[in-house]
Amino acid sequence: MELTKVEISKTALVTNIQSFRNILPKHTLFASVIKSNAYGHGLETIAELSIKAGADILAVNYLEEGIKIHGLFPEASIMIMGEIPNLEKYIKYLNSSFHIVVSRKDEVQLLNRFSQRPQIHLKVDSGMGRLGYSGKTLYKMLDELKSDNLPINWLMTHFASTEDFTEHSYSMQQLTTFQQYNEYAKKIGYNNLKLHAASSASTMLFPEAKLDMVRVGISLYGLWPSIQTRLSLSLMGNTTFHLQPVLTWKTGIVHIQDLNTGSYIGYGSTYKTNYPTKTAVIPVGYYEGLDRRLSNQGYVLVRGERAPILGRVCMNMTIIDVTHIQNPKIGEEVVLIGKSGNEIISADDMASMIGTINYDVVTRINPNIPRIVVE
Ligand SMILES: Cc1ncc(COP(=O)(O)O)c(C=O)c1O
Repeated sequence: MELTKVEISKTALVTNIQSFRNILPKHTLFASVIKSNAYGHGLETIAELSIKAGADILAVNYLEEGIKIHGLFPEASIMIMGEIPNLEKYIKYLNSSFHIVVSRKDEVQLLNRFSQRPQIHLKVDSGMGRLGYSGKTLYKMLDELKSDNLPINWLMTHFASTEDFTEHSYSMQQLTTFQQYNEYAKKIGYNNLKLHAASSASTMLFPEAKLDMVRVGISLYGLWPSIQTRLSLSLMGNTTFHLQPVLTWKTGIVHIQDLNTGSYIGYGSTYKTNYPTKTAVIPVGYYEGLDRRLSNQGYVLVRGERAPILGRVCMNMTIIDVTHIQNPKIGEEVVLIGKSGNEIISADDMASMIGTINYDVVTRINPNIPRIVVE
């Protein structure tokens, strides 16, 4: 993977955190969501940059991610948002630097028995239908927790569809439900619970959802959660919220060949040249994270020019058309995501070519590719 790398712009990351800080009340904590290899940007790299840029908490999904980050940055507060199967077995790895998201009574009981007790975040389901309980089941559990005298520190929830619409009544309904759950908790004696609900889109769009902490993932990396989010924000009169993409994905040419008209290219011979074609091979395929659905329809950038993908994306290689590039060279830079000359190919461009979302494109860039901080 020597030629292939992911460059991480420190300036862009700092700019994005600052954009969020500018809209947050002073008391609201900022959690950098760095799960899934920091959305493909490199777990350790983004953890370190986030800490330096003043993030209050680093949020991961897996216990393993949390332990790794704790080993590297023992002072950092780490929130584990995914369920931890067999929590009892792994509890020894936790301490008071950790924030653990749980949904059930047995998890709260277990964590409360532990002398190095992490902060406990009880997740409630306000309409996502995923982790946590709702309605009577939740009230019953809260009653039981209270009668067993088991403290919790935070109440949290997650919005289901803020990113999907420009009409936000479902999210507002979720927020109301969440507040009702908090009222109930208060009524039975959980008076000082801190609250969090918002991810990138809801932090930008709903001032009332910022609460005591926000959990920002995709927009930490300078990407918009969706076109609807951007539109919603501009409909609210905010056209200046600034995000700067953090990642540039690059590789280099490893082989060049001149093919006659009528030559076939790649597995399945799905592309046939219809002019004398100069092709280049890049050492990136679907294993490295270049989606196979880009076969015969995607493009990359060489010297600021688009170079179409010819034939099928292979496991570790892709063939591109460089006929229009003057005297291309082995080793020459190829941009898969990012800027080259005046051309840009964004994670959103790539996502729309294959019918997915930018989250999916960046998180699948192979973790073995080096992440290199620039500037
Ligand atoms: C519980 C939770 N909070 C926050 C986030 C971050 O969301 P986003 O990347 O849209 O900011 C996620 C992402 O999946 C999540 O699952």
